Amino acid sequence: MATAEIRGIGHSVERKEDARFIRGKGTYVDDITLPGMLHMELLRSPFAHARIRSIDTSRAAELPGVVAVVTGELMAQHKLAWMPTLSGDTQAVLATDKVRFQGQEVAAVVADTAYIAKDALELIDVDYEPLPAVTTPQQALEADAPVIRDEKEGQTDNRIYQWEAGDREATDRAFAEADKVVSLDTFYPRCHPSPLECCGCVADVNPATGKATIYMTSQAPHAHRTLFALVAGLPEQKIRIVSPDIGGGFGNKVPIYPGYVVATAASLLLGKPVKWIEDRTGNLISTGYARDYHMHGELALKGNRITGLRTTLLSDNGAFYADAQPSKFRAGLFHIVTGSYDIPAAHVVAEGAYTNKAPGGVAYRCSFRVTEASYLIERLVQTAAYELGVDPAEFRLQNFIKPEQFPYESATGFLYDSGDYPKAMKLALEKLGYDELRREQEEARKEGRLIGIGLASFTEVVGAGPGKHYDIAGLRMFDSAELRVHPTGKAVLKLGVRSQGQGHETTFAQIVANELGIPPEDVEVQEGDTDHTPYGLGTYASRSTPVAGAATAVISRKLREKARTIAAHLLETAEDDLEWENGAFHVKGAPERAKTIQDLAFAAYTDIPDGMEAGLEGVHYYDPPNMTFPFGTYAVVVEIDRGTGEWKVKRVVAVDDCGVRINPMIVEGQIMGGLAEGFGIAAMELITFDEDGNCIGSNFMDYLLPTSWETPEFELGETVTPSPHHPIGAKGVGESATVGSPAAYVNAVVDALAHAGVRNLEMPVTSDKVWKALVEAGLAE
Ligand code: CDP
Repeated sequence: MATAEIRGIGHSVERKEDARFIRGKGTYVDDITLPGMLHMELLRSPFAHARIRSIDTSRAAELPGVVAVVTGELMAQHKLAWMPTLSGDTQAVLATDKVRFQGQEVAAVVADTAYIAKDALELIDVDYEPLPAVTTPQQALEADAPVIRDEKEGQTDNRIYQWEAGDREATDRAFAEADKVVSLDTFYPRCHPSPLECCGCVADVNPATGKATIYMTSQAPHAHRTLFALVAGLPEQKIRIVSPDIGGGFGNKVPIYPGYVVATAASLLLGKPVKWIEDRTGNLISTGYARDYHMHGELALKGNRITGLRTTLLSDNGAFYADAQPSKFRAGLFHIVTGSYDIPAAHVVAEGAYTNKAPGGVAYRCSFRVTEASYLIERLVQTAAYELGVDPAEFRLQNFIKPEQFPYESATGFLYDSGDYPKAMKLALEKLGYDELRREQEEARKEGRLIGIGLASFTEVVGAGPGKHYDIAGLRMFDSAELRVHPTGKAVLKLGVRSQGQGHETTFAQIVANELGIPPEDVEVQEGDTDHTPYGLGTYASRSTPVAGAATAVISRKLREKARTIAAHLLETAEDDLEWENGAFHVKGAPERAKTIQDLAFAAYTDIPDGMEAGLEGVHYYDPPNMTFPFGTYAVVVEIDRGTGEWKVKRVVAVDDCGVRINPMIVEGQIMGGLAEGFGIAAMELITFDEDGNCIGSNFMDYLLPTSWETPEFELGETVTPSPHHPIGAKGVGESATVGSPAAYVNAVVDALAHAGVRNLEMPVTSDKVWKALVEAGLAE
């Protein structure tokens, strides 16, 4: 470990990036203004499903200040009316034949100002022939459902995929031999990542050089560059994606959206920079939603032991299958659904369907559907405990994978790297005062008060690759770090990932500090410019620390080894006689004969041994041997108002284990943010649709995000179980709380009513749903 002065791993170093953010000096896409820049706005479909008879753009084109009106027909002339999605499907860039969801992009106006462009949208006359809308996946799979993707050759229904994992026979056997089977049908509703900053770009195709510089809200700039090259046919060396400061991503900025493609095509055709900035409604109704999984789960029980797990799920994928996930896994990593439990047999069947809704299925602060999986198993486990008459904490402890079983191979094929689930749970229970609370709950019931205690002991899976198993659109999931130590001992670290507020400029500098002894303030971290950073797959699914963090540690160590050779040369000793400590090599037994990393960096450019290449620089591409598996236990206490069904969170205790913590303050911030998002999803957030496919939830009056008013207080705790395969033992943490906490909140509300037989409430658990349950259970006041 580095010393306190160097402030490497384990120090709550203040976030370097905040100096500019809190002064309003960040540079977001909308802050970019280029000479001669034009503005683009998109016309969106008012219908969920309609044939386009004609589009008349003549009135819009005549409006003074309008430079061009773009339709799908024009895009088709350039073979750009359709684009590939990240899941190997196709998506309309601008609709030509039909619109397939409300909010779909139909035309674009490019004008001198955004206001003129917006006004002109109203002058575009589209003649629609409305078609029946399909708004649920169940409806989509009915034999007489209208075929949404009738343009696809061979597509005769709305089925997208069928996929399975695990061992069906072994699972059937476990169920045949079970003493008891418990089941749960539940729906993880469609929700939206809703970053503070919506999506947008400034596309600047230089007519003189042919170079396309695209400033865009991108969580994966390198992958986007390659996809742009493949889609638009532009040579890749002529494409530069710059992802400047990003105001939150949460998975929403992983896909490529039509707006980026149309703005780039418009800049190419017009020879001028074109800016497109999405408004809030555009973001909510058309860009990467998350979840929308209908799930059925069953546990086979023998005594108090879980012996089998069977799940079937039906996914609502919207009109285009655009889930951002590794291509081999049609339902993401949902098959981690065995969670923290030692379940010998499991089988998962997943099916996806097209509906007349926006595409998405993005990993909203989630590693490719682990959130849905974690929710299902944590709700099922609580149900089983009630049915067996066992305390839910005790039932978990009896079924956890034991610390000595790691590395543990799950029944669906994951190799969990490390864990100590009982330790995290016991700490959470102790902080909560669980036993005492259970007694209070009993007492309160006698007084007519309804208190509930909900637990969730989640296991996360983050840090994709390994590249041989995980890819996005065929690109192997590795990541990279390039470290340049300058002669004066100051360094620049360039990464393939891209922070959206997670504090990479601080934490990755701390990794270098830890490994090389250069203080974090002397290490500038650069991300997000494809011309100036090494190739990487980007930041989502909590992969930055597990993959790019590892790459950073490895390249730092490589440079340290070179510095050792230089030190041996300067100190006229053998390399083996040197010891590394506190940012310096000294001769063993003679600490005064030392060279600091700063001395050695200077020597790398001024005084190197014969035959050595000058400089102290290098790049490493890290393909992880496995994922990392963070975990923890969350405990929530609620009280229900029997007169209204309203529920209030009284306490939230969250114990997380993400292995070695690089920056404890940043980790805690990540967890608190995730707990707040988890609360929003459990309590109030819902993107839903009426029977015509109109999106209800297209603005923040209807789509409710929790404010500081509703968000509860959080009490945090930690255990540290290092990842054995990560160079510094770190696991990801960014999404743990969003993954783990929704089940804890819902379990708490259900727990308050469980004695009256209530087993399930669907998210968002609004007071009207609780009121209904109170009435049915005879508990209403
Ligand atoms: O990929 P993303 O940055 O969203 O997620 P992450 O790798 O889980 O990291 C989120 C933030 O927490 C980053 O700034 C990490 O460096 C920091 N972190 C940490 O300090 N220690 C860990 N063990 C994990 C993450």
